[in-house]
Amino acid sequence: MAEIGIDIDQAKSFLDRGQLIGLPTETVYGLAGNAFNESAVLKIFQVKNRPSFDPLIAHTNSLEKVKTFVKDIPDVALDLAEAFWPGPLTLLLPKKKRIPLLLTSGLKTVAVRIPDHPITTELLEKLDYPLAAPSANPFGYVSPTTAHHVQDQLGEAIPYILDGGPCRVGIESTIIGFENNKPVVYRLGGKRIDEIEKLIGTVRIRTNMSSDPTAPGMLKSHYAPVKRVVIGDLEELIPKLNPLKVAVISFQKDYPEVPENHKFILSKTGNIDEAAANLFSAMRKMDKTAANCIVAEYVPEIGLGKAINDRLKRAQA
Ligand code: TXA
Ligand code: MG
Repeated sequence: MAEIGIDIDQAKSFLDRGQLIGLPTETVYGLAGNAFNESAVLKIFQVKNRPSFDPLIAHTNSLEKVKTFVKDIPDVALDLAEAFWPGPLTLLLPKKKRIPLLLTSGLKTVAVRIPDHPITTELLEKLDYPLAAPSANPFGYVSPTTAHHVQDQLGEAIPYILDGGPCRVGIESTIIGFENNKPVVYRLGGKRIDEIEKLIGTVRIRTNMSSDPTAPGMLKSHYAPVKRVVIGDLEELIPKLNPLKVAVISFQKDYPEVPENHKFILSKTGNIDEAAANLFSAMRKMDKTAANCIVAEYVPEIGLGKAINDRLKRAQA
């Protein structure tokens, strides 16, 4: 089983030797390895059981370091980077040779992000290579937001997990690419669209639900618990089902007819950010109950609400 700890030098020594570790970011936990080391990158795909057509994100701690492995950064990307890094935003940028094609699944762009978590920043400062790090879950399952989530599923396959506590944001980064220097949002995530648009004007959003492997980041069924997820009006759904056989994820409301251990309220005060931070824990917890299925409801589409609803929709797919 992986050791869980806060020893940055130990984490570094595993990475220096081409091994993988679990590590916290403000969004979700990542499964990290040396992005310049092909065999470490290959291990990431193997441990996650991830198809080779689904490329990884490279993480580092400064724009200077980013410029050593990407080129021709569009001005609008620089504006975004300067305003929102470190933070829950990933940019797709033309890669230099140093980034292995294995990492980008053969694409000419590499996904890059400077995460905002103190322990991981301290680690990245000590490294002279970026970290390839997808979310630390088996392919298709819900992303982990605590070190124990990582331990539960990947603990047998990796030696070490850096423990940074529960993730502050709780859903994955927003992904933006550039087509003819025009920004396109490929994944709704932790950086709110209204904040992005305040800086660079209206952006195109192309997060269609697809089963097309050439549209990475947009696979239809993703972020899914094992149990069937049904989304609808809970007040209508719950009485129709046996309240003892369902697990309920509600936004704010309590359903007293459902037993305590079969329900999760995302935010009792109706706070969207709190709901985002709790979403994946809620899915994991409800997935572990003896219920037949999980029923959930959409949250209001303000702030991170759209990104939360996107995850719920994909969990249902
Ligand atoms: O918040 C996050 O982004 C977390 C933390 C660990 O940083 N990482 C994460 O990685 O969510 P992952 O691998 O689970 O999701 C990255 C997504 C994938 O769906 C992949 O298809 C897409 O980014 N992606 C990566 N490189 C791409 C590229 N060059 N073009 C288009 N999509 C890309
Ligand atoms: Mg993922």
